Amino acid sequence: SRERLRAVRDRVRSFPDFPVPGVLFRDISPLLKDPVAFKALIDLLEEHLRASFPKVDVIAGLDSRGFLIGPPLAQRLGVGFVLIRKKGKLPGPTESISYALEYGKAELEIQSDAVEAGQKVVVVDDLLATGGTMRAACELLARLKADILECLVVIELKGLRGAAKLEAIPFHSLLQYD
Ligand code: PRP
Ligand code: HPA
Repeated sequence: SRERLRAVRDRVRSFPDFPVPGVLFRDISPLLKDPVAFKALIDLLEEHLRASFPKVDVIAGLDSRGFLIGPPLAQRLGVGFVLIRKKGKLPGPTESISYALEYGKAELEIQSDAVEAGQKVVVVDDLLATGGTMRAACELLARLKADILECLVVIELKGLRGAAKLEAIPFHSLLQYD
């Protein structure tokens, strides 16, 4: 498991000053490109969830990189996957919420029938930075009366204190960066 974690960590690249000066961008492209490391990632996330929760009903993924990690994980667990998307992409009745970004704001949406009241949901994304995106996603799921078991990410940027923004919602990250 330590070796698999290292295989994952070794496939995260860092780019200074992307997309704006001062940001050190953590890039998971090499991780997705390497089938051994990608499998190790999904193995580790699956093992974490199986060890933590006796039952998961739904995996919810965040637009867009949560869509890369959520579906293979949902397939492993034998549960469904639901989309939490940027505004204007989902047809039919939706719930929406606007949230603060480092510069400006954005809006997330979920279809009103995506989860049923009381369903046990794990929310997945590639990375937690300020936590604004994850917090907004949890607010949408709370409006649908989902039971949020955990927010689960591959990478946590510790210095931005995003986990604190999630307050009482359980949070887990595979890799932490300062
Ligand atoms: C990135 C990342 C997370 C979010 C984290 O996505 O994939 O979803 O930002 O930032 P936060 O914790 O400060 O809210 P981005 O909004 O760049 O969208 P993308 O996945 O479509 O590239
Ligand atoms: N990498 C990828 N996505 C991000 C980052 C990062 O460092 N910060 C905010 N979103």
